[in-house]
Amino acid sequence: MYQDKVEQIKTDISQAQADTPEELEAYRMKYISKKSVVGELFAEMRLIPNEQKKAYGQTVNEVKQLAEAKFQELIERVNIQKSQVKASGIDLTLPATHVAVGGIHPLTATRQRIIDIFERIGFNLSEGPEIEDDWHNFTALNFPENHPAREMQDTFFIEKNPDIALRTHTSSVQVRVMENERPPIRTLSPGRVFRNEAISARAHCIFHQVEGLYVDENVSFADLKQTLYHFAKEMFGKHTKVRFRPSYFPFTEPSAEIDISCQLCGGKGCNICKGSGWVEIGGSGMVDPNVLENCNIDSEKYTGFAFGMGIERIAMLKYQINDLRLFTENDIRFLKQFRSFL
Ligand code: DAH
Repeated sequence: MYQDKVEQIKTDISQAQADTPEELEAYRMKYISKKSVVGELFAEMRLIPNEQKKAYGQTVNEVKQLAEAKFQELIERVNIQKSQVKASGIDLTLPATHVAVGGIHPLTATRQRIIDIFERIGFNLSEGPEIEDDWHNFTALNFPENHPAREMQDTFFIEKNPDIALRTHTSSVQVRVMENERPPIRTLSPGRVFRNEAISARAHCIFHQVEGLYVDENVSFADLKQTLYHFAKEMFGKHTKVRFRPSYFPFTEPSAEIDISCQLCGGKGCNICKGSGWVEIGGSGMVDPNVLENCNIDSEKYTGFAFGMGIERIAMLKYQINDLRLFTENDIRFLKQFRSFL
Protein backbone atom coordinates (compact mmCIF):
# COMPACT_ATOMS: atom_id res chain seq x y z
CA MET A 1 0.00 0.00 0.00
CA TYR A 2 2.93 2.35 0.56
CA GLN A 3 3.73 1.80 -3.14
CA ASP A 4 0.83 4.03 -4.21
CA LYS A 5 1.98 6.82 -1.99
CA VAL A 6 5.56 6.50 -3.26
CA GLU A 7 4.41 6.52 -6.87
CA GLN A 8 2.43 9.66 -6.21
CA ILE A 9 5.46 11.36 -4.67
CA LYS A 10 7.64 10.33 -7.64
CA THR A 11 5.13 11.79 -10.08
CA ASP A 12 4.98 15.00 -8.04
CA ILE A 13 8.76 15.28 -8.04
CA SER A 14 9.11 14.79 -11.76
CA GLN A 15 6.44 17.40 -12.42
CA ALA A 16 7.80 19.94 -9.93
CA GLN A 17 8.73 23.37 -11.32
CA ALA A 18 10.85 26.23 -10.00
CA ASP A 19 11.65 29.46 -11.83
CA THR A 20 12.63 31.69 -8.95
CA PRO A 21 14.85 31.29 -5.90
CA GLU A 22 11.67 31.33 -3.76
CA GLU A 23 10.14 28.43 -5.68
CA LEU A 24 13.43 26.60 -5.47
CA GLU A 25 13.44 26.97 -1.71
CA ALA A 26 9.83 25.74 -1.54
CA TYR A 27 10.87 22.64 -3.50
CA ARG A 28 13.81 22.07 -1.14
CA MET A 29 11.53 22.27 1.90
CA LYS A 30 9.04 19.89 0.35
CA TYR A 31 11.37 17.19 -1.01
CA ILE A 32 14.89 17.56 0.37
CA SER A 33 14.87 18.89 3.93
CA LYS A 34 14.55 16.67 7.02
CA LYS A 35 10.87 17.47 7.36
CA SER A 36 10.14 16.86 3.67
CA VAL A 37 7.83 14.15 2.37
CA VAL A 38 10.92 12.12 1.53
CA GLY A 39 12.18 12.60 5.09
CA GLU A 40 8.80 11.35 6.27
CA LEU A 41 9.14 8.20 4.15
CA PHE A 42 12.40 7.46 5.95
CA ALA A 43 10.74 8.04 9.32
CA GLU A 44 7.98 5.62 8.42
CA MET A 45 10.52 2.81 8.03
CA ARG A 46 9.82 1.80 11.63
CA LEU A 47 6.15 1.02 10.72
CA ILE A 48 7.14 -1.41 7.96
CA PRO A 49 7.21 -5.11 8.83
CA ASN A 50 10.75 -6.44 9.09
CA GLU A 51 10.63 -8.68 6.02
CA GLN A 52 9.63 -5.69 3.82
CA LYS A 53 12.11 -3.25 5.26
CA LYS A 54 14.82 -3.95 2.69
CA ALA A 55 12.58 -3.40 -0.33
CA TYR A 56 11.08 -0.32 1.31
CA GLY A 57 14.50 1.09 2.02
CA GLN A 58 15.55 0.68 -1.61
CA THR A 59 12.39 2.33 -2.89
CA VAL A 60 12.74 5.28 -0.54
CA ASN A 61 16.39 5.70 -1.50
CA GLU A 62 15.35 5.83 -5.14
CA VAL A 63 12.85 8.53 -4.28
CA LYS A 64 15.56 10.44 -2.46
CA GLN A 65 17.90 10.24 -5.45
CA LEU A 66 15.13 11.31 -7.77
CA ALA A 67 14.36 14.28 -5.53
CA GLU A 68 18.01 15.29 -5.44
CA ALA A 69 18.56 14.94 -9.17
CA LYS A 70 15.49 17.10 -9.75
CA PHE A 71 16.79 19.65 -7.24
CA GLN A 72 20.07 20.00 -9.18
CA GLU A 73 18.12 20.42 -12.38
CA LEU A 74 15.98 23.15 -10.84
CA ILE A 75 19.01 24.94 -9.37
CA GLU A 76 20.51 25.13 -12.83
CA ARG A 77 17.29 26.38 -14.35
CA VAL A 78 16.93 29.16 -11.76
CA ASN A 79 20.56 30.22 -12.22
CA ILE A 80 20.23 30.43 -15.97
CA GLN A 81 17.08 32.51 -15.63
CA LYS A 82 18.81 34.85 -13.17
CA SER A 83 21.72 35.49 -15.54
CA GLN A 84 19.34 36.03 -18.44
CA VAL A 85 17.47 38.70 -16.46
CA LYS A 86 20.77 40.39 -15.67
CA ALA A 87 22.08 40.16 -19.19
CA SER A 88 18.87 41.46 -20.72
CA GLY A 89 19.46 44.85 -18.99
CA ILE A 90 22.88 45.34 -20.56
CA ASP A 91 23.97 45.34 -24.15
CA LEU A 92 27.73 45.13 -23.98
CA THR A 93 28.06 46.14 -27.61
CA LEU A 94 26.49 49.58 -27.03
CA PRO A 95 28.85 52.58 -26.92
CA ALA A 96 29.25 53.91 -23.36
CA THR A 97 26.92 56.72 -22.30
CA HIS A 98 28.61 60.09 -22.42
CA VAL A 99 29.50 61.49 -19.00
CA ALA A 100 29.97 65.25 -18.97
CA VAL A 101 33.37 66.01 -17.45
CA GLY A 102 33.90 69.38 -15.79
CA GLY A 103 37.16 71.20 -15.32
CA ILE A 104 38.82 73.50 -12.84
CA HIS A 105 38.11 77.20 -13.42
CA PRO A 106 41.22 78.92 -14.83
CA LEU A 107 41.31 81.32 -11.88
CA THR A 108 41.16 78.47 -9.39
CA ALA A 109 43.93 76.69 -11.25
CA THR A 110 46.07 79.85 -11.37
CA ARG A 111 45.55 80.52 -7.67
CA GLN A 112 46.53 76.94 -6.88
CA ARG A 113 49.69 77.17 -8.98
CA ILE A 114 50.71 80.36 -7.21
CA ILE A 115 50.08 78.72 -3.81
CA ASP A 116 52.09 75.63 -4.79
CA ILE A 117 55.09 77.73 -5.80
CA PHE A 118 55.18 79.72 -2.55
CA GLU A 119 54.39 76.74 -0.33
CA ARG A 120 57.48 75.03 -1.66
CA ILE A 121 59.62 77.89 -0.35
CA GLY A 122 58.07 77.93 3.10
CA PHE A 123 55.06 80.27 2.89
CA ASN A 124 51.92 79.25 4.74
CA LEU A 125 48.36 80.26 3.83
CA SER A 126 46.24 82.84 5.60
CA GLU A 127 42.97 84.56 4.97
CA GLY A 128 40.87 87.42 6.24
CA PRO A 129 37.32 88.71 5.87
CA GLU A 130 36.01 90.26 2.65
CA ILE A 131 34.02 92.77 4.69
CA GLU A 132 36.71 94.79 6.43
CA ASP A 133 37.00 97.73 8.78
CA ASP A 134 38.87 100.93 8.03
CA TRP A 135 41.75 99.99 10.34
CA HIS A 136 42.72 96.78 8.54
CA ASN A 137 42.07 98.00 4.99
CA PHE A 138 43.56 101.51 5.33
CA THR A 139 44.66 103.01 8.64
CA ALA A 140 47.00 100.27 9.87
CA LEU A 141 48.50 100.20 6.37
CA ASN A 142 49.61 103.78 6.78
CA PHE A 143 47.11 105.40 4.42
CA PRO A 144 47.17 109.15 5.09
CA GLU A 145 43.89 110.58 6.38
CA ASN A 146 42.77 112.03 3.07
CA HIS A 147 44.33 109.54 0.69
CA PRO A 148 42.26 109.31 -2.52
CA ALA A 149 41.96 105.49 -2.19
CA ARG A 150 39.67 106.03 0.78
CA GLU A 151 37.20 108.01 -1.24
CA MET A 152 33.88 106.73 -2.38
CA GLN A 153 34.76 106.20 -6.03
CA ASP A 154 37.18 103.39 -5.22
CA THR A 155 35.68 101.70 -2.24
CA PHE A 156 32.34 100.03 -1.62
CA PHE A 157 31.35 101.20 1.86
CA ILE A 158 28.60 99.60 3.86
CA GLU A 159 25.65 101.96 3.95
CA LYS A 160 25.37 104.07 7.11
CA ASN A 161 28.75 102.91 8.43
CA PRO A 162 31.82 104.52 6.83
CA ASP A 163 34.02 102.37 9.05
CA ILE A 164 33.04 99.15 7.24
CA ALA A 165 33.85 98.42 3.60
CA LEU A 166 34.42 95.59 1.15
CA ARG A 167 38.19 95.17 1.20
CA THR A 168 39.90 96.86 -1.72
CA HIS A 169 43.00 94.67 -1.51
CA THR A 170 44.35 91.60 0.28
CA SER A 171 46.90 93.79 2.09
CA SER A 172 44.35 93.89 4.92
CA VAL A 173 45.26 90.26 5.65
CA GLN A 174 48.88 91.30 6.26
CA VAL A 175 47.67 93.42 9.16
CA ARG A 176 45.54 90.64 10.60
CA VAL A 177 48.40 88.15 10.43
CA MET A 178 50.93 90.56 11.98
CA GLU A 179 48.50 91.42 14.77
CA ASN A 180 48.07 87.76 15.65
CA GLU A 181 51.46 86.21 14.99
CA ARG A 182 55.05 87.00 15.86
CA PRO A 183 57.97 86.88 13.40
CA PRO A 184 59.24 84.93 11.62
CA ILE A 185 56.16 85.31 9.43
CA ARG A 186 56.06 83.97 5.90
CA THR A 187 52.53 83.93 4.60
CA LEU A 188 50.50 84.00 1.41
CA SER A 189 46.93 85.35 1.37
CA PRO A 190 44.85 84.78 -1.73
CA GLY A 191 41.37 86.25 -1.84
CA ARG A 192 38.62 88.25 -3.46
CA VAL A 193 38.75 92.04 -3.49
CA PHE A 194 36.26 94.73 -4.49
CA ARG A 195 36.53 98.14 -6.13
CA ASN A 196 33.90 100.54 -7.28
CA GLU A 197 34.85 100.44 -10.95
CA ALA A 198 32.93 100.09 -14.20
CA ILE A 199 33.25 96.65 -15.75
CA SER A 200 35.32 96.47 -18.94
CA ALA A 201 37.82 94.18 -20.64
CA ARG A 202 40.53 95.51 -18.33
CA ALA A 203 38.70 96.29 -15.08
CA HIS A 204 36.14 94.65 -12.86
CA CYS A 205 34.51 95.55 -9.56
CA ILE A 206 35.29 92.07 -8.18
CA PHE A 207 38.64 90.42 -8.76
CA HIS A 208 41.30 88.36 -6.97
CA GLN A 209 44.65 89.12 -5.48
CA VAL A 210 47.33 87.19 -3.73
CA GLU A 211 49.32 88.89 -1.01
CA GLY A 212 52.72 87.79 0.22
CA LEU A 213 54.41 88.81 3.45
CA TYR A 214 57.76 87.92 4.94
CA VAL A 215 58.79 89.45 8.28
CA ASP A 216 61.92 88.41 10.17
CA GLU A 217 65.26 89.77 11.26
CA ASN A 218 67.40 90.97 8.35
CA VAL A 219 64.86 90.58 5.57
CA SER A 220 66.12 92.71 2.69
CA PHE A 221 65.07 94.00 -0.69
CA ALA A 222 67.40 91.39 -2.20
CA ASP A 223 65.21 88.69 -0.62
CA LEU A 224 62.15 90.28 -2.18
CA LYS A 225 63.75 90.40 -5.61
CA GLN A 226 64.98 86.83 -5.45
CA THR A 227 61.63 85.53 -4.21
CA LEU A 228 59.68 87.21 -6.99
CA TYR A 229 62.25 86.21 -9.58
CA HIS A 230 61.87 82.61 -8.43
CA PHE A 231 58.09 82.92 -8.63
CA ALA A 232 58.14 84.41 -12.15
CA LYS A 233 60.37 81.65 -13.46
CA GLU A 234 58.28 78.91 -11.85
CA MET A 235 55.02 80.41 -13.06
CA PHE A 236 55.94 81.59 -16.55
CA GLY A 237 59.04 79.61 -17.50
CA LYS A 238 62.78 79.82 -16.95
CA HIS A 239 63.45 82.46 -19.60
CA THR A 240 61.19 85.00 -17.89
CA LYS A 241 62.88 88.21 -16.77
CA VAL A 242 61.76 90.40 -13.87
CA ARG A 243 62.04 94.16 -13.55
CA PHE A 244 61.36 96.37 -10.52
CA ARG A 245 60.07 99.89 -11.19
CA PRO A 246 60.16 102.47 -8.36
CA SER A 247 56.63 103.25 -7.21
CA TYR A 248 54.61 104.39 -4.24
CA PHE A 249 52.38 102.52 -1.80
CA PRO A 250 51.60 103.94 1.65
CA PHE A 251 52.47 100.64 3.36
CA THR A 252 55.88 100.00 1.81
CA GLU A 253 59.10 101.97 1.67
CA PRO A 254 60.75 101.70 -0.74
CA SER A 255 58.02 100.46 -3.10
CA ALA A 256 58.29 98.88 -6.49
CA GLU A 257 56.04 97.71 -9.24
CA ILE A 258 56.88 94.24 -10.55
CA ASP A 259 57.11 93.71 -14.31
CA ILE A 260 57.87 90.50 -16.14
CA SER A 261 59.09 90.15 -19.71
CA CYS A 262 56.11 89.92 -22.08
CA GLN A 263 54.97 86.33 -22.51
CA LEU A 264 53.71 86.91 -26.02
CA CYS A 265 56.69 88.53 -27.74
CA GLY A 266 59.39 87.47 -25.28
CA GLY A 267 60.41 91.10 -24.75
CA LYS A 268 60.67 92.28 -28.35
CA GLY A 269 57.57 94.46 -28.11
CA CYS A 270 54.00 93.72 -29.23
CA ASN A 271 50.50 95.08 -28.69
CA ILE A 272 50.00 93.19 -25.40
CA CYS A 273 52.99 94.95 -23.83
CA LYS A 274 52.34 98.07 -25.89
CA GLY A 275 55.72 97.79 -27.52
CA SER A 276 57.68 97.95 -24.26
CA GLY A 277 58.49 94.23 -23.88
CA TRP A 278 57.33 94.35 -20.22
CA VAL A 279 54.01 93.71 -18.46
CA GLU A 280 53.08 94.55 -14.89
CA ILE A 281 52.01 91.78 -12.51
CA GLY A 282 51.79 93.55 -9.15
CA GLY A 283 53.21 95.81 -6.46
CA SER A 284 55.75 95.18 -3.77
CA GLY A 285 58.13 96.76 -1.31
CA MET A 286 59.69 96.72 2.13
CA VAL A 287 57.03 96.86 4.84
CA ASP A 288 56.90 100.43 6.16
CA PRO A 289 58.10 100.56 9.81
CA ASN A 290 54.85 102.36 10.70
CA VAL A 291 52.88 99.31 9.58
CA LEU A 292 55.03 96.99 11.72
CA GLU A 293 54.54 99.29 14.71
CA ASN A 294 50.77 99.46 14.09
CA CYS A 295 50.78 95.69 14.54
CA ASN A 296 53.04 95.81 17.61
CA ILE A 297 56.07 94.42 15.84
CA ASP A 298 59.38 96.00 16.80
CA SER A 299 60.54 97.79 13.66
CA GLU A 300 64.06 98.21 15.08
CA LYS A 301 64.47 94.48 15.28
CA TYR A 302 62.42 93.24 12.34
CA THR A 303 62.10 94.11 8.69
CA GLY A 304 59.85 92.61 6.07
CA PHE A 305 58.86 92.57 2.44
CA ALA A 306 55.39 92.37 0.96
CA PHE A 307 53.89 91.99 -2.45
CA GLY A 308 50.46 91.87 -4.00
CA MET A 309 49.52 90.47 -7.40
CA GLY A 310 46.30 90.21 -9.39
CA ILE A 311 45.35 86.58 -10.00
CA GLU A 312 43.28 87.50 -13.10
CA ARG A 313 46.26 89.41 -14.42
CA ILE A 314 48.57 86.42 -14.03
CA ALA A 315 46.03 84.05 -15.61
CA MET A 316 45.54 86.48 -18.54
CA LEU A 317 49.28 86.65 -19.19
CA LYS A 318 49.83 82.95 -18.79
CA TYR A 319 46.92 81.82 -20.97
CA GLN A 320 46.71 84.86 -23.26
CA ILE A 321 43.20 85.82 -22.25
CA ASN A 322 42.35 89.30 -23.45
CA ASP A 323 39.12 90.11 -21.61
CA LEU A 324 38.60 90.04 -17.83
CA ARG A 325 34.87 89.52 -18.23
CA LEU A 326 35.44 86.01 -19.58
CA PHE A 327 36.31 84.82 -16.07
CA THR A 328 32.86 85.57 -14.68
CA GLU A 329 30.56 85.04 -17.64
CA ASN A 330 30.75 81.24 -17.35
CA ASP A 331 30.61 80.79 -21.10
CA ILE A 332 31.14 77.08 -21.57
CA ARG A 333 33.12 77.65 -24.80
CA PHE A 334 35.70 79.55 -22.76
CA LEU A 335 35.75 77.25 -19.73
CA LYS A 336 35.98 74.15 -21.92
CA GLN A 337 39.42 75.23 -23.07
CA PHE A 338 40.75 74.65 -19.55
CA ARG A 339 39.31 71.18 -19.17
CA SER A 340 42.72 69.60 -18.85
CA PHE A 341 43.10 71.37 -15.45
CA LEU A 342 41.60 68.42 -13.62
N1 DAH B 1 47.65 96.36 -2.25
C1 DAH B 1 48.21 96.84 -3.49
C2 DAH B 1 47.11 97.03 -4.51
O1 DAH B 1 46.06 96.47 -4.34
C3 DAH B 1 49.23 95.88 -4.04
C4 DAH B 1 50.43 95.81 -3.18
C5 DAH B 1 51.50 96.66 -3.39
C6 DAH B 1 50.51 94.90 -2.17
C7 DAH B 1 52.62 96.62 -2.63
C8 DAH B 1 51.65 94.83 -1.39
C9 DAH B 1 52.70 95.71 -1.64
O2 DAH B 1 51.78 93.96 -0.39
O3 DAH B 1 53.81 95.63 -0.86
O4 DAH B 1 47.32 97.70 -5.48
